[in-house]
Amino acid sequence: MRALVADRSAPGSIAVRDVPEPVPAPGEVLVEVRAFSINRGELRMLGTAADGWRPGWDFAGILKSDVEHGPRAGARVVGIRQSGAWAERVAVSQAWMAELAEGVSFAQAAALPTAGLTALRILRLGPAILGRRVLVTGASGGVGRFAIQLAHLGGAEVTALVSSSSARAAGLSQLGADEVVSDIAQLRGRFDLILESVGGDTLGRLVRMVDPQGTLVMFGNSSNELTTFNVRDIYLDAHIRLQGFELFFGGDPFGRDLAYLVTLVAERKLDPQLEAELSWEEMPEAVERLRNRDVAGKVALTLGG
Ligand SMILES: NC(=O)c1ccc[n+]([C@@H]2O[C@H](COP(=O)([O-])OP(=O)(O)OC[C@H]3O[C@@H](n4cnc5c(N)ncnc54)[C@H](OP(=O)(O)O)[C@@H]3O)[C@@H](O)[C@H]2O)c1
Repeated sequence: MRALVADRSAPGSIAVRDVPEPVPAPGEVLVEVRAFSINRGELRMLGTAADGWRPGWDFAGILKSDVEHGPRAGARVVGIRQSGAWAERVAVSQAWMAELAEGVSFAQAAALPTAGLTALRILRLGPAILGRRVLVTGASGGVGRFAIQLAHLGGAEVTALVSSSSARAAGLSQLGADEVVSDIAQLRGRFDLILESVGGDTLGRLVRMVDPQGTLVMFGNSSNELTTFNVRDIYLDAHIRLQGFELFFGGDPFGRDLAYLVTLVAERKLDPQLEAELSWEEMPEAVERLRNRDVAGKVALTLGG
């Protein structure tokens, strides 16, 4: 079969190559892939990967065999792997996939796993959010757009922080952001939960804006800059919690949360914010656009069918 493989001599350091067929391990099933998506973390890994590495976390496609107490062969499903999902076929743990509801396309579904699951799970790391103030940084990006929608659904008062370009704020109010700001200096008051992925100076300034009983979740460093802050700002508010998060480290299997996200999309309570749907042969273009911060939301790549 064919798959996208790291190749430093190719445009975007990625190229379609022939690779061996996947062999499902016990507890895994085979899926014929129809769409996958790209995440900033994959872009970063691609930057340092050795030739031959097989990237890819998120995919959606058609189940090739029955799942015990679950969907049957032929069902449309979405799933997540720790690598190798950018391929014609993948093997996936039965506990790391969910069946698609009618009306949810493969491309929409492929946008959900990494970004949607991250947004859902980081929102669970703070205090209960009903009626509380939640700040989302990197708000125009893939995770940010899911986080705004889910925090709004959960009853929070949501503030979205975008980079200085006001064009990046477009559409975020419609997703549920009560306030959209493009400069930290415009933020007023403290936040019960801050979902932070920009890092650098942004993180350093935001540690002073967590409510004394609140939580700041650090789940990314898109700026790739180091952070400096005065620890006194933390320990003088003794109950502030600085919390790290990594999707693939620990936690429950993803199937149940994926099914929840699919249901929200089917009920039109969650929009996957697909900015572009490209053919998988156009992956170098998708890589370039994400690298240039020219994607507001998600890009899905489609194949087969
Ligand atoms: N820990 C985990 O398990 C986990 C899971 C998923 C994602 N992440 C991390 O979370 C972050 C967001 O992921 P994503 O998939 O949502 O990425 P994305 O779609 O590329 O969004 C990145 C966001 O960060 C903003 N940003 C600010 N400064 C930036 C800079 N110097 N370079 C690039 N972006 C910058 C961008 O704003 P503009 O509008 O100005 O471009 C954009 O809104 C990434 O750092 C990713 O690695 C971590």
